[in-house]
Amino acid sequence: MTDQKPRKPGEPSGHSRRDFLRGSGVAAATAVLTGPAVGMLDEAKAAEGEPKVLSGTVDIKLKVNGQERACQVEPRSTLLDTLRNRLDVTGPKRVCDRATCGACTAIVDGDAVYSCTTLAVSCQGKTIETLESFDTGEHSVPHAFHQNDGLMCGYCTPGFVTAVKSFLDKHPNATEEEIRKGIDGNICRCGTYVGVLAAAMQVAKATKGA
Ligand code: FES
Ligand code: FES
Repeated sequence: MTDQKPRKPGEPSGHSRRDFLRGSGVAAATAVLTGPAVGMLDEAKAAEGEPKVLSGTVDIKLKVNGQERACQVEPRSTLLDTLRNRLDVTGPKRVCDRATCGACTAIVDGDAVYSCTTLAVSCQGKTIETLESFDTGEHSVPHAFHQNDGLMCGYCTPGFVTAVKSFLDKHPNATEEEIRKGIDGNICRCGTYVGVLAAAMQVAKATKGA
């Protein structure tokens, strides 16, 4: 199966959201092929040394928040569905379900990704983090959101907390403008951007002062 490279917030040289959707579509189409076409494609790909086509139900293991978790999924299952419905990890939320809002954001191998359009099978062997595992201490991102009213209805909040943490982990000295660009893959319907940015800046300043 082709590795997906979801767009990474804050990295302008990365793939665009359109590239990401195109890549996911190809991967998903490969994953759900059934019938005679599967056998032919299997043979062709084996000859090319490519991974074999998956169908039916597959056993997978995912490393989620430091724990090895095993489950069965259909090859087309998204990381979001697998986390929420198979592994009871409900921090990432389903809102748009189409790589637009960021409510489903999870961190895979250090990169913020839209888990609603990332295939679970493609995350095997990678490190998956959701906000359930985040520190909530005095200088943490979750604490800063609380201190700066970074939420109203809260639908977007898990995704924003995750996106901010992922970005600041990589760019601890980021400016407000850089943070603004770095988390622009996330949308807040209530318009709580002022609080979100204030929370991110609070953490960035605390990190610089440490
Ligand atoms: S639910 Fe995944 S981007 Fe909106
Ligand atoms: S707080 Fe309501 S969508 Fe962000």
